Amino acid sequence: MKMTLIAGSNNSGSVSTRLLRYLESLLVSDGITVSFVDIRELQLPLYSPESGQNPGALRLQNEIVNADALIVATPEYHGSISGALKNALDYLTPGHVEGKPVLSVSSAGGPLGISSLTHLQTIVRNLHGVNCAEWISVGYGSNDFAPDGVPLDAGVRERAAAVLGQLIKMTRLLSAGTVVVTG
Ligand SMILES: Cc1cc2nc3c(=O)[nH]c(=O)nc-3n(C[C@H](O)[C@H](O)[C@H](O)COP(=O)(O)O)c2cc1C
Repeated sequence: MKMTLIAGSNNSGSVSTRLLRYLESLLVSDGITVSFVDIRELQLPLYSPESGQNPGALRLQNEIVNADALIVATPEYHGSISGALKNALDYLTPGHVEGKPVLSVSSAGGPLGISSLTHLQTIVRNLHGVNCAEWISVGYGSNDFAPDGVPLDAGVRERAAAVLGQLIKMTRLLSAGTVVVTG
């Protein structure tokens, strides 16, 4: 099983990226192959239908096409996802994402970033991905990490394990063809 993780913050000290790195560490200890794409490093120009291809967009598209499942992390910005992540997702079509389970992750300044999660799930739906039944968000009171990257909040650690369990189960079912999803 291979998963691609997409970090959607343009902030070098990003909390959502730290949470995503923690999820990555759990997946790796479970023996799952992970590819980590930080959109800060892709240097994507503002999407235009006329701009043609660029190396960052090609890498993003290839990492998604080659994955069995995706995890996408976003900051909550003004009740939605970051502009940087939206720009990256605009480079995608349903052909890249169709039928893949997608787990949404967010971080907020308030206690939780639910609006960004629902907006992200709407975009996933429009890209014909299959939203994971669970999601995870951290915010004020639950967004501190130890130097080794482990969340200090026990509830976050428990939730992280639970959402990954759901995602892995969904990915196995979809990969086995037990569940058929059409776009
Ligand atoms: C432009 C901007 C808008 C924000 N809007 C919200 C918001 O609507 N709700 C909220 O709870 N926090 C908001 N925040 C706080 C961020 O969600 C918070 O700092 C979060 O950790 C950012 O994620 P990141 O660290 O992964 O970049 C906003 C921050 C910025 C810079």
